Amino acid sequence: MMLIFSFFFIFNVDVFALKTTRSCDEDPSSNVCLLHELTKEKQELKSSQLEVQSLKKTVGTLQAQETNCPTVAFRTQLTHDVASPSAGFHFVFDDIKLNIGNGYNNHHGTFVAPVSALYFLSYRFTITPGTSNSLIRLVMKLNGEIVSHAMSAYESHYTTASYTNINHLNAGDDVWLEVLENNYSFVIIGNIANLGP
Ligand SMILES: *[C@@H]1O[C@H](CO)[C@@H](O)[C@H](O)[C@H]1NC(C)=O
Repeated sequence: MMLIFSFFFIFNVDVFALKTTRSCDEDPSSNVCLLHELTKEKQELKSSQLEVQSLKKTVGTLQAQETNCPTVAFRTQLTHDVASPSAGFHFVFDDIKLNIGNGYNNHHGTFVAPVSALYFLSYRFTITPGTSNSLIRLVMKLNGEIVSHAMSAYESHYTTASYTNINHLNAGDDVWLEVLENNYSFVIIGNIANLGP
């Protein structure tokens, strides 16, 4: 008699277990399922809160970086042509269009980095035609050292070349463009009206 009772009990537990695993599909509003849903929602809320915390931290870091690294930008060009510049000629782009951070000096033609940072520097030249064996070489110098060859041209027609450089500059480093070599009467076009056809 005892044995039968025991068997019956186990059987009953089995049926209950079977019911709870199947019941969420069949009956989503059962207490067990609601509890399960609630636990899941709680976990999701917790992870959302953690995500918000981490985003707040990122925003704080970015705001701090923005105050440590102010915007520096400049754009400048020539108001006049430069005819037959010889080696060592230092370009002074006298027409400043933009100078956030006041890094560019239109009297010396030099950009002095106001803050230490990575700088994206870009420049463009247009020159008049040369002959088959003529040569002009323009370079960008950083603290007096050549960091890029802006142009080498032998062309027999108008030539435009543009270059971009990414350089790390320390505050106070200076950058300018100059002629390294020129053995022909090239004219660097500053006045757009002289560009020709
Ligand atoms: C200019 O310099 C280049 C390179 O040194 C040379 O090949 C060329 O003959 C020179 N041209 C003239 C006109 O001197």
